[in-house]
Amino acid sequence: MKIDEQIRCMKLLMQRLDDGTTVDAGGMVRNPVEAYTSQQRAGQEWETMFQSYPQVMGLTGDLPAPGSFLTSNDLGKPILMTRDKDGAFHAFLNVCRHRGTVVEGDQRGQKTLFSCPFHAWGYSATGELVSVPKEDHFGPVDKSCHGLVELAAEEKHGLLWVHPEVGSQFDLDELLGELGEEFESWGFGDLQFGAITTYETPMNWKFAIDTFGETYHFNVLHKNTLANDIYGNVQCYDTYNRNHRMMLCAKAIDKYRDLPEEDWDILQATIPVYYIFPNIQLIPSGRIENRPKDQLSGATLVRVYPHKDNPHKSFSQISFYTNPNIPEEFRLAMSERLTSFGEIIRDEDYAVAATGHLGATSGALTHFTFGRNEPALHHYHNTYNEMLGLEPLERISN
Ligand code: FES
Ligand SMILES: [Fe+2]
Repeated sequence: MKIDEQIRCMKLLMQRLDDGTTVDAGGMVRNPVEAYTSQQRAGQEWETMFQSYPQVMGLTGDLPAPGSFLTSNDLGKPILMTRDKDGAFHAFLNVCRHRGTVVEGDQRGQKTLFSCPFHAWGYSATGELVSVPKEDHFGPVDKSCHGLVELAAEEKHGLLWVHPEVGSQFDLDELLGELGEEFESWGFGDLQFGAITTYETPMNWKFAIDTFGETYHFNVLHKNTLANDIYGNVQCYDTYNRNHRMMLCAKAIDKYRDLPEEDWDILQATIPVYYIFPNIQLIPSGRIENRPKDQLSGATLVRVYPHKDNPHKSFSQISFYTNPNIPEEFRLAMSERLTSFGEIIRDEDYAVAATGHLGATSGALTHFTFGRNEPALHHYHNTYNEMLGLEPLERISN
């Protein structure tokens, strides 16, 4: 993040604290509850946003070395991601070209040959079919056209991107806009994978995204946890094409008021929360006292998914990463902090959001209301509507 942007955000947050103000979307809007409960809508968004749109599948640290692999079934199809011997990132449908069996069953690991569990056809990390057992009995197989089916994939700014649709391409610079440069500056690519947890939730996936879209709830829902060291209802907010960034305001910001700007530490004073359309929250973290300045100590990646065509269930893959270049004591502290952050998401945000889904299906209300202080919800749902060819959210006040 550029230094002048760091200073701008910190000054703005200090000013908002002093004035008792926060970000203002310029009006209130409302969103029909069917957006969360409609079966037809679930089918549309699954096709448009989860089958035909580039997806963040992890960070560079999920494939730590040549020969690393990662599998995913989150998008309703088996996907195998590899780092080849030269370090290049690839993605394939994890589907054997013999009779369709899922080739690699493990979630992650190290391998140079992927051997199908059915008849042991073997594939390389670059997807070539390299061995067919008993080929003299089976018959000749043209290996040059029976490799794993490759998907468009790119590793950039420390993130792993895959287009889940065979034959599709994507342009990351166009998708991210200025956010690409900012991601690069955080050094996400240096982070090491820590752990991953899956939370299954009885709610539409958009409830999960919405919980990350405002800090209005901090002093209430998180009064005994996050609100201990974050000011609720004070933030900076900026959009980058379909994506956005919220800068949450840590209480530690106050100690910088009397320090020269060159000593300001954005990762102590704020918590940046990036949303990448349609389903990603990426949260760089440096909030460890006395850590080496200007170094990310870790990050949390939240990937939220619907179940195909089912508006009433979703799941989140929450993974955290730490920086191997910082001293061990900071890494351990970071691991503990990020583990407990994941538990807060599960036990507080998602727990209450799931009751919102019950509310949506109860017949009690026709719309949800998004306030002036919740611009991320406006932008997310307007972007979502635009993707599906729907009207923008209905404005109900100025
Ligand atoms: S289905 Fe994979 S080797 Fe036969
Ligand atoms: Fe929350």
